[in-house]
Amino acid sequence: MSGLLERLGVELPVVQAGMGGGIAGHELAAAVSGAGGLGTLGHAPPGLLRSELRAARERSDRPLAVNLLLPFARGGHWEAAEHADVVVTFWGRPRRRTSKPWLHQCGSVEEALAARGAGADGVIAQGVEAGGHVRGVLSAPELLERVRAALPEHYPVLAAGGIAGHDDVERALAAGAEAAVAGTRFVLTEESGAHPGYRRRVLDAERTLLTELFGFGWPGMHRVVPNRATERWLGGGTSVPSWLRALNRATAPLASRVPADVHSFPARLQRPGVPILSPLAAHRDAPDRMLDALPLYAGESALRIHEVVPAAAATSALAKGDPGPSSPAGTRSPPIRRR
Ligand SMILES: Cc1cc2nc3c(=O)[nH]c(=O)nc-3n(C[C@H](O)[C@H](O)[C@H](O)COP(=O)(O)O)c2cc1C
Repeated sequence: MSGLLERLGVELPVVQAGMGGGIAGHELAAAVSGAGGLGTLGHAPPGLLRSELRAARERSDRPLAVNLLLPFARGGHWEAAEHADVVVTFWGRPRRRTSKPWLHQCGSVEEALAARGAGADGVIAQGVEAGGHVRGVLSAPELLERVRAALPEHYPVLAAGGIAGHDDVERALAAGAEAAVAGTRFVLTEESGAHPGYRRRVLDAERTLLTELFGFGWPGMHRVVPNRATERWLGGGTSVPSWLRALNRATAPLASRVPADVHSFPARLQRPGVPILSPLAAHRDAPDRMLDALPLYAGESALRIHEVVPAAAATSALAKGDPGPSSPAGTRSPPIRRR
């Protein structure tokens, strides 16, 4: 690896995606950075972001990134992010608001060019296979090729979407990516903030759905595994009724103005049969019944991941093809595997 991340002291060409709603907290980000990758804290209210960064720094002295979702990022978020080593942004018109190295995740060549024009130090090309919110329509290899061709040779381009194993990372690097960014692989780690039942459903999933269903306050496409809410509102397909899409769109301006902790209020009331479906993820503190009401974000890579592993082992397996030194016998609980 050579380029931006290497100059920052990141050893391995593996980046853990910032995943909001507490999925990527300090345990996960610090474990990935400690293993030589780049760990990223997910979007959170400014006070929480600051304390999460402090907690991550206590566990790892390696570089750490913070992810900000542009529709919800305010001055306090940017101030908190100044304490990170890298800022990664997503969703919206890219604009430099940090003095730190800045990467913007993009779903098209146009967006990548706009990010570079706005002063981004690099871009993440996100393919349509990705889990969580999905910005574009092209597959990861196709988008990477087009973005790589449109930008100068040494401009950092990272690849996201469909990264399940070492072969995927090798392919992305061979196609000109500086590093590979993985989200779903890290949802399925011991340190992720995902509810255990959410991880179980992702492990057992036979398919993923790209939908706009969970768009209350944040309309946009996102990839999930099915649950009762998707069965109720999508039937066998992926299309959202037009009135529900209109409702989601109407709520966006309001949601971007209220603080994130207020968002969790309607999410707590969320039911599979009530068409007010927020994008908040199924966090480990959520009651079990919420697994059928909240989005279970996962990318197509989920179908090729078979086990929940420690984040350091996932980082090492992605970068080197082996999970690194195993923990001493008897110190780990039995592995959680695909059934
Ligand atoms: C559970 C989950 C939550 C996500 N949340 C965010 C987020 O808050 N901000 C962001 O920039 N990307 C988010 N993403 C998208 C990732 O940045 C990345 O594009 C994606 O995970 C790559 O595809 P993969 O899941 O196949 O690895 C999320 C992805 C997942 C799986």
